[in-house]
Parts: sequence; structure tokens; C-alpha cells
Amino acid sequence: MTREILPADPSTPEIVSDPQAIRAAVVAARAAGRRVGFVPTMGALHAGHASLAARAGTECDDVVVSIFVNPTQFGAGEDFDRYPRRLADDCRLLGHEGVRWVFAPESRTIYPPGDATRILVDGPARRFEGLIRPGHFEGVATVVCRLFNAVPADVAYFGAKDWQQTVVVRRMVEDLGLPIGISICPTIREPDGLALSSRNAYLSPAERQQAVGLHESLLVAEQLWRNQEPVDSIEAAMRAAIEARQIRLDYAALVDPVSLEPLDVAGGPAVALVAGRLGSTRLIDNRLLAARG
Ligand code: PAF
Repeated sequence: MTREILPADPSTPEIVSDPQAIRAAVVAARAAGRRVGFVPTMGALHAGHASLAARAGTECDDVVVSIFVNPTQFGAGEDFDRYPRRLADDCRLLGHEGVRWVFAPESRTIYPPGDATRILVDGPARRFEGLIRPGHFEGVATVVCRLFNAVPADVAYFGAKDWQQTVVVRRMVEDLGLPIGISICPTIREPDGLALSSRNAYLSPAERQQAVGLHESLLVAEQLWRNQEPVDSIEAAMRAAIEARQIRLDYAALVDPVSLEPLDVAGGPAVALVAGRLGSTRLIDNRLLAARG
């Protein structure tokens, strides 16, 4: 187990709960010529989120991180109630990354009484997670759009671990002409390759050992892709690698990284997408595969 070494005297981010107050602060900072970066999160922060804040900190003058467990992106029976909430710990971690503001709104300010508006998403949002979690991406798109209204930053940072989410958000920003840049940052992994996720905390020690099967399947995919194997045999090998760890498979697929449709150019580029369940925990992961000759 690696131990994180943190600087001794971190600054403390200012916690803002009022959307109008954070908006005014961001507008004022930008009017003063400062570049503002925004990292939307649901809290329960880990080194993956810290890397997003760190990247924003190197590219921007001020960084805002939102912490909001968004009810509309959870389906019935999903983990909304048990999703970890630990604002004080999260703020400490963000202080070490030099974050200026933590925007932690109350639900009624994001979804005001009588709220009756949702963003409908189609195309790539209808596949994979969209099939397994109906309504999930409508919830993500709706909250991200509302967060972008409250935090009118220059650029927003998202982790590549949720590849389909990055596709849906980019599509929405383009389709609605939202005035914000989108930056996608690399997945941060445990030493054995497991992608960092707030949901890893749900895994029992035995499940934690098994969970590495998702990453193993992606390494298999990459090797076979480089060896010019056909897509269907690569997908079969990915499924076998996942099932070898007794992970209940949701999907293992090689698709176009932007449309998430089956590859129409055999040489790619491609993204390998995997999802599976261990007990009551769902995990997802992915790997981008460069075009092959
Ligand atoms: O990736 C997440 O943590 C969430 O889906 C997001 C983008 C913060 C929206 O609630």
C-alpha cells in the first residue's frame, strides 16, 4: 500500500453553496483576466480527482471544484443513498491542490421547487451505460449544464475513466454551443492497474483482488489489437479475461471512440469499453487503442 505524502501547509478552499455567489466570483475572476478551471465531481475524492484539480491548477489561475451527489443520474435501486459523502476530507485534499473554491450546492438550488426540465441525450448516450442505466446520461447532461451555468469557467476537466460520459458531455457542449472548453485527463490507476473510482470503496478485500480483471481484459485487448486480430475475437478474449476473475460481465466491446458505434474503419482508432459487477458494485473501465496500420 503506498502512502500519500502531502505538503505540510495546504491552503483551504473557500466553500460556496450559493450558485449565484460562485457565478459572481468566477465572472469577477475572469473579468480581472484570470483563467478559471472547473472540475465537476460528486465528492468522495481520490487521487484521480486530485490529478484533475492539479492539471487545472497548472493550466489556470483559479480552480473551482464542485461537489454534488446528483440524484437525477442514479436509477432506482442504485447507490445514491450510500454514495460516500465526506466534504471535510474532500476539502482537505483539494487544499493540497491549491483549489480556490469548492462549490457544494444544496439540491434545491440545482433542482429548484417545481423543476421540470431535463436535457435529452441521444446517439452515443443510448449505448452501453445508457442501456444498462436508463436516464443516467439525461441526469448527467442536465446537472453538468446547470453546473456550467453556475460556474462559467474557461475550461472544465473530466476523467477519461468515464469515457462515455466524456463523449456525452462533449456532444452536449457542441450541440448547445456552451461557451466552455472541455479537457479530458488520463485515468489514474492503482499499482495493479485497477482504475481509481469512488465505488472501489464498496469492494470487499476478495472483490478488490478480482476487480483487476477489468484492466487485465483491456491489456489483452490492446495486445490483440496490435497483433491485427479481428474485433470479434478481441471482444471474446476480453470477455474471457473478465469472466476468469468471476466478474459478472455487463459488456466488453471495441467501438469508435466518438460515436461509440461498431468500428466502420477496421484500423481504428478504437476504444475498448468494459463493465462488470462484483457483488452489488458496478465498475467500468476503458482503453483507447491507436489506429493500426
Ligand atoms: O463524473 C462524475 O462525478 C459525475 O457524473 C459528474 C460529471 C460530476 C456529474 O454529476
